[in-house]
Amino acid sequence: MKLSEREIVGSDFRYPIELHEDFVGLSEKLKNLKKVSQVFVFTNREIAGIYEKYITKELKNSNIPFHFIYLKAGEKNKHIDRMKKVYHQLIQAEADRNAVIIAFGGGVVGDFTGFVAATYQRGVRFVQVPTTLLASVDSSVGGKVAVNVDSGKNMVGAFYQPEFVFAPLFTLSTLPKKEWSCGIAEVVKHSFLDGGTFLETLSKSKRSDFSEKSDIVRYAIEESVRVKSQIVSQDEKESGLRAVLNLGHTTGHAIESLTSYKKYSHGEAVSVGLVTALLLSKEILGFSESNFQKAISMMNQLELPTVLEEKPELVLQHMEHDKKKDGNTLKYVLLEDFGKPKFGVPVERKMILDILKRHKGMKLHG
Ligand code: NAD
Ligand code: GLY
Repeated sequence: MKLSEREIVGSDFRYPIELHEDFVGLSEKLKNLKKVSQVFVFTNREIAGIYEKYITKELKNSNIPFHFIYLKAGEKNKHIDRMKKVYHQLIQAEADRNAVIIAFGGGVVGDFTGFVAATYQRGVRFVQVPTTLLASVDSSVGGKVAVNVDSGKNMVGAFYQPEFVFAPLFTLSTLPKKEWSCGIAEVVKHSFLDGGTFLETLSKSKRSDFSEKSDIVRYAIEESVRVKSQIVSQDEKESGLRAVLNLGHTTGHAIESLTSYKKYSHGEAVSVGLVTALLLSKEILGFSESNFQKAISMMNQLELPTVLEEKPELVLQHMEHDKKKDGNTLKYVLLEDFGKPKFGVPVERKMILDILKRHKGMKLHG
């Protein structure tokens, strides 16, 4: 059953982002696309093990031939080296330009599949069916698709929008605890960027309220999609404004890279990075102490990591590899207030190091 729908509209794209209870209705949406020759469902064995039978039952209703292509799970497999085999599988199965690819999984499956779709035969249509909270609130929306290369994460990619996003909420029932934190961190980021009722509602919720059936999860997804869509609609290719979606990511990426993508999920690292960004916001843009305390108590209630455990010098070193560097400064997204982000704020390395040291020394648990 469809629960809600929002549309994202850009200069040359327009597509719906739909929340559903389960997979019912997916076939109808595929049938509504023009001239579909075959459907290819890209997923991994973990997800297929639980949900293949359900999505198969639904896809049979479409009367369009469909095939599964299994990817290896995990960030290290969102790699350019894995693409050759997949192109080969598509060619073997005679996928033509009217084929439609479904990205059925979390952000790793979504980013990888989207980039395959963007490049196979110069681009075939694709659909996002997100199964993690992070993918539902962030990666399935907005058309950033990418793979990693040995020297960097997301270094090869495209802006390539899906035909539609279809989020089956019941798949969240099997999401591991760590993956919930990952998505909740991006929800919190969106609420900081938005301020207002979204932030107020979230600040009154606690972690135990979050489950696949809870109203707060549905609300958090709908609101996150609203915030992200508004931004992407204005600046699809990140020539400016879209950069605000990177709040918390400069430090977050450095922590992920420093810990070899093993200790933290993407969102957990962003969560710690949000705290660094708020400390810098206080120092540079006058973000208030009371707002800072409000953010920390909200993150504590939502059981998100806030404490910086890594050595500040190493975090800074890993930031140097980040694409946002410029001379002796790094560019940050900071907040003047909740709902008032500023992007491209130059911050000197010395100040970043001082703030990271302050962050590491702080007692942040409530
Ligand atoms: P993920 O895709 O690695 O999924 C996490 C784990 O959960 C995997 O092992 C997966 O198999 C498993 N899983 C997925 N759905 C499940 C379910 N319903 N039940 C049980 N297990 C399930 O992680 P993620 O957090 O979804 O995505 C992270 C990726 O997203 C990163 O590569 C990041 O760079 C990317 N990302 C992209 C964007 C974008 O705009 N394109 C935005 C944010 C993050
Ligand atoms: N996740 C950041 C973006 O989509 O721009």
